[in-house]
Amino acid sequence: MRLSSPHINIILKACTKASRSLIRDYGEIENLQVSTKGPGDFVTSADKRTEKIIIEELQKAHPDYGFVTEESGIINKENKSNRWIIDPIDGTMNFLNGIPHFAISIGYEEDNEIKCGVIFDPIKNETFCAEKGNGAYLNNTRIRVSKKKKLQDALLVTGGPKNSSKLKDKIFSEFINVSKTVFSPIRKFGSASLDMAYIACGRFDGYWQRELNYWDIAAGIVIVKEAGGFVDFFNDDIDVPLKKNILATNSNIHDELSSLIKKNIE
Ligand code: IPD
Ligand code: CA
Ligand code: CA
Repeated sequence: MRLSSPHINIILKACTKASRSLIRDYGEIENLQVSTKGPGDFVTSADKRTEKIIIEELQKAHPDYGFVTEESGIINKENKSNRWIIDPIDGTMNFLNGIPHFAISIGYEEDNEIKCGVIFDPIKNETFCAEKGNGAYLNNTRIRVSKKKKLQDALLVTGGPKNSSKLKDKIFSEFINVSKTVFSPIRKFGSASLDMAYIACGRFDGYWQRELNYWDIAAGIVIVKEAGGFVDFFNDDIDVPLKKNILATNSNIHDELSSLIKKNIE
């Protein structure tokens, strides 16, 4: 059985269409024109092309819905309560370097709450999706978070800091702190949406990261929650609406990881 709902179906159709050009671009990475957005942060013509296709497809289905996107920013429509949240390529640095670990991430929001989302990994052909109240799926199979109980046994993943971050020292010391508590070295895979998706299907047990953008994690929020995980924000140092510090776990290790990170804040 696969999850089927009108909004998910619209997103899947947009992903399928966009992924054709994305896969083509991935095969021709060396020909892509690359420009710098800032240190360590690249935007490619593939990002823009992919996003354009997604917006066009979603707009066909619901011309009145707004958008929050990485490449085109916020697009307001007359309907203020329904919005699509889009990251056309999450894991651009991997994409640019020919590392097959990136995804299209699209969330659907109603009255400021994410109702459903899809994270589509076009290379591994893995589609993670969830709708509030209807569970989370990987392709046609229902997924659940892992059952690990102790933080010390957990396989954790994190990301950042960006080169431009003013919080580098804090982020590195947080990493060291958490590293000392767990047996397995912490992973950094370079795609926030796939980090969240991997929490949802039990490949990782916990994920935290500062200074993300809403589009990195919007779809992941509902997918992790519907898989039985816990998602928490610790926006102690953030007052920009679309910026997020996130903690997403299998629920069991949440308090332990959360108190370690919060200890670092004080
Ligand atoms: C990035 C990835 C990465 C995370 C960065 C994000 P992008 O998104 O999700 O894992 O560490 O903070 O900006 O730029 O590849 O869409
Ligand atoms: Ca991203
Ligand atoms: Ca991106």
